[in-house]
Amino acid sequence: MTRAQRTLTIYTQERGAELGDLFGIFFEDLNHAADGGLYAELVQNRSFEFDPIDRAEYHALTAWEKIERGGGKAEINVEDSHPLNPRNLHYVAIDIVSEGGGVGMMNLGFNSGIPAKQGETYLFSVYARRDASFDEPVVVTIEGTDGTVHGEATIVVQSSEWTQYAATITANATDTSSRLVIVTKGKGKLYLDMVSLFPEKTFRNRPNGMREDIAALLADLKPKFMRFPGGCLIHDGSLNPDDRDSMYRWKNTLGDIAQRPARRNNWSYNQTLGLGYYEYFLFCEDIGAKPIPILPGGYDPHHKRIVPIDELQPWIDDALDLIEFANGDPSNEWGAIRAQLGHPEPFGLEYVGIGNEEVGEPFFERYPYFHRAIKEKYPDIKIINSAGPFAAGSEYDRGWKSAKENKSDLVDEHYYQSPEWFLANYNRYDTFKADEPKVFLGEYASWGNTYYNALVEAAFMTGLEKNAHAVGLACYAPMLCNVDYINWKPDMIWFNNHEVYGTANYYVQKLFMHHQGDQLLKIEAYGLDEKQENTMKPINGAFALETDRCSFRFWDMKLVNNDSGEMKELNGLSAELSDTDEDRLGGTSLRTLDLGETDWENYTLSLKAQKISGPKGFNLYFGKRDDNNQLIWDFGGWQNQDSALCSSMNGRTSCLTQSIFNVEPDMEYELTLEVSGRQIRAWINNVLFHDTEDKLPVIEPLYYSASYERSTGDVIVKVVNVQENSVSAQIALADLHKTSLTVEVNEMSDHAPDDENTFASPERVSPKQKEFSTVGCSFHYDFPKHSITVFRVR
Ligand code: AHR
Repeated sequence: MTRAQRTLTIYTQERGAELGDLFGIFFEDLNHAADGGLYAELVQNRSFEFDPIDRAEYHALTAWEKIERGGGKAEINVEDSHPLNPRNLHYVAIDIVSEGGGVGMMNLGFNSGIPAKQGETYLFSVYARRDASFDEPVVVTIEGTDGTVHGEATIVVQSSEWTQYAATITANATDTSSRLVIVTKGKGKLYLDMVSLFPEKTFRNRPNGMREDIAALLADLKPKFMRFPGGCLIHDGSLNPDDRDSMYRWKNTLGDIAQRPARRNNWSYNQTLGLGYYEYFLFCEDIGAKPIPILPGGYDPHHKRIVPIDELQPWIDDALDLIEFANGDPSNEWGAIRAQLGHPEPFGLEYVGIGNEEVGEPFFERYPYFHRAIKEKYPDIKIINSAGPFAAGSEYDRGWKSAKENKSDLVDEHYYQSPEWFLANYNRYDTFKADEPKVFLGEYASWGNTYYNALVEAAFMTGLEKNAHAVGLACYAPMLCNVDYINWKPDMIWFNNHEVYGTANYYVQKLFMHHQGDQLLKIEAYGLDEKQENTMKPINGAFALETDRCSFRFWDMKLVNNDSGEMKELNGLSAELSDTDEDRLGGTSLRTLDLGETDWENYTLSLKAQKISGPKGFNLYFGKRDDNNQLIWDFGGWQNQDSALCSSMNGRTSCLTQSIFNVEPDMEYELTLEVSGRQIRAWINNVLFHDTEDKLPVIEPLYYSASYERSTGDVIVKVVNVQENSVSAQIALADLHKTSLTVEVNEMSDHAPDDENTFASPERVSPKQKEFSTVGCSFHYDFPKHSITVFRVR
């Protein structure tokens, strides 16, 4: 194909689907995204409420150390007999035994400590009281680990009742490993609670606000929306809102931070709820993103906690009240609360989601009650249903069925997959219909933060954009990660206590958000149809069994060639695996077993299995080339709640399809796995459970989409080249009637596939901008190998 023959023609007057609020962000307090992250509080465990329920090693004095200087001696006790308030029970009593050079406590902050910055002012506050014999000033310093004082303030505690005291401290040095030190002298007892230190400079100078650098990176994205507060954190919890480990109940997150209950965050830490719903709505307003709150639907699929239908009303009221809190007139109950908090104007909420990654009938029985009540009172609010944690399978189908039956506005899909999966599924939404609920791709990422991951995601995002008739919203997940508290990776933005950087994936998201446009434009390709087929066609190779802390018996293990009828016994028909805790202790563990291999392309493997003991099921590997390239039937996976077929390519696993399934002890299971080319079907006890295709990536010559932006009149064209060679094409803008064009080019290229950003090189992988003019309405462009190019044509 010659250069001139390859053309992308953009029909600038043929406008299609609205792109609306397509690209936004997802926030969940995992990886210390809020506390020790976006929420600017510098003190860790400020109200002495940390508890082993949050994390086994936590206690009320986590992140605090006693100080006894120059022969001083004190007893520090955590007490709860005279609490600050009923939701904030614990406080410390510093009992001065002998004053010496001063006694007290210091807080270690997050990461390496309190990040003091020279010249910056910090707002210290504390609730304190004293006993009758204590009568000395309290000195508060920001200090280095060697005791060097970087800034100081003094407070005088005058009352025996809880009183809030505040002071400012200006740092005279930069030291990212500082401590907040509270020291006093004299005699008697000093009581402290809610010890807080905020930088004076928060994002937009909000009190109780956001860390400026992280917030700025988010604002820079220009997201159309922000989903909050998760994630699994929404529904992984108990039903009683007063429980420490309750589901996320938004009413607990409002008002005075000293009155907010401590919460067990299901990501194994403590959540102060300092970044609550009001702060969230305000932050959305500050960064120009529409809020998308997600509420629990009265069902915890992780622990099967279920609100009886006749007790569902308070949960539905929570949803209605949240909408009133966001949008209601201050003359209404919740509108008045918003006004009291300082925001009489409505926040303009348009969307609400019910449920996150819901699996199981109980959710879908409950969803219609929420849906009906919300639509009846607020017909304009768009409601988001949930399609489970995977890209396909029975729970995904159940979510979509419910969404269609209830006429949900959107359905929340989630998937974390290999880069190859994203390329293979670039056309995923081509067949979705415009008159059905729209897709909210509420969580997605390819496994990794390299440039290649970002490149592949960009290609996939052109597929989202070109299907804007069906895809309404999409956000990469997770968004934030503190490098010292990792629950999940990859993540879009990484930070420690004083630095932050956006990954390659961040810069792709930013490109797509900055250059989203408002309406799709028709785009036609000529000469760009020579796809690169993947040559690794058949699913064949080795078979193996593996279990994890379980004991299983297998028999009647056979492999039949479906072309020739030939039959092979596997492992002499039978086997046993035993990897229980006892086996591990006794050194008798047999965890994996090879079953041989085949080069057949169409075959059926069958076996019978019985669980003797253990909490889960087992894995059956097939099509195994090596440990990084194989298919997996995960039978009784994830808390023994799933049966799933997964495909691992280059060490990164994609769940192809999942259904709910529980492997019971002693039951005999007959499993049948049929492989026909890339098609895989699996039966459990003669019931078809899975029917899927492990698609191989088909590399398109170029991935592209085009849109029109109303405010500027610009035509935006996005082109992604994932190939290892450059691709040239003519870009023609039809029906523009101009003699020349100015073309702004925003491009990511010249990066190796493995390149990543780091603290040291935070923008190593990021776009570059250039501009050129054309004569006439078309131009020739060489799309570099591995490139993402966004043209703004005016
Ligand atoms: O994004 C991390 C987690 O992935 C979310 O909490 C959950 O919804 C998904 O399983």
